[in-house]
Amino acid sequence: MNNPKLIEKLKALYNDNSKHSRYQNIPAFVREELGYTETIDENWRGDTARYNYLLSQFDFTKEMIIGDIGANTGFFSLSLAHKYPSIKIYAYECNPKHVEHIEIIKDYFSISNLYVEPKMLDLKNIDNLKYHDLIINFNVLHHAGVDYDQDFVNLDNFKSYAISYLAKLREKTGKIIFQMGYNWGGNKQKPIIKLSNDLDKLAFTAKIFQKAGWKIDMIAIIKKSENNYYENIRKDIFEILVNGNDCHTEHTDILNAYINKMNLNIFSEFYRRPILVCKRNQSVD
Ligand SMILES: C[S@@+](CC[C@H](N)C(=O)[O-])C[C@H]1O[C@@H](n2cnc3c(N)ncnc32)[C@H](O)[C@@H]1O
Repeated sequence: MNNPKLIEKLKALYNDNSKHSRYQNIPAFVREELGYTETIDENWRGDTARYNYLLSQFDFTKEMIIGDIGANTGFFSLSLAHKYPSIKIYAYECNPKHVEHIEIIKDYFSISNLYVEPKMLDLKNIDNLKYHDLIINFNVLHHAGVDYDQDFVNLDNFKSYAISYLAKLREKTGKIIFQMGYNWGGNKQKPIIKLSNDLDKLAFTAKIFQKAGWKIDMIAIIKKSENNYYENIRKDIFEILVNGNDCHTEHTDILNAYINKMNLNIFSEFYRRPILVCKRNQSVD
């Protein structure tokens, strides 16, 4: 349906020139119904591969309470809530323009199972969070110290902060699906892990989750066929990373050979961020 005023409003909110503007795709149902889209170069970054992986990991046809931390302009929250009426999804987003973008679409399509929460989920605010079955936490944690929790985080203590943050989040959800960037605050000059060090990204992320009391179910990395898609890493590699010793030295050759074979260097920085699926580790409760 052609609705130029609505589209103009959505475009203005989407293109708000903030740090995280022009980031996500417009959900398919919005594109189809309103004829409104924004062009994202999916070779550099995009949501299709992540969304397909997310759908492959969970049964959204069941009743579930989901939180989407750093919901941005709502691609994941809106797409899931619109498609799966039995879930309830809470979109947590601190940018008021992006919050309004989500709310306008929610209202226009009467998406009553989506709750938009204009909130900054920093260390303090996690305490007041409700309990979820699943939290989606994509590409927010590396902005700690720059976008939020500025008083607690710097590049040197990032790892211990990340463990504290993830340990607190563990109290608020049964499962988490997670992705982070490895440049602190998105600044290439301040890498948490260097771009070329794909193995260290996997080991670092696995370690912060384990130290925070999570059990890792899956680790996925990007692959290319016609389109980009995420695939769970090979079982023996998963075992080494998750159940092996801390420095993985005795397995270095196997790990490096696997990573080299996966050809991650053909992808942009965005796609070189692994995705983890974890559950609460009951044994540490
Ligand atoms: C890099 S974008 C990632 C967006 C989305 N999660 C994704 O991966 O497509 C980060 C988003 O999280 C929001 N944000 C950053 N820190 C946040 C926090 N502590 N709580 C809630 N939202 C946050 C930003 O405003 C921005 O929309």
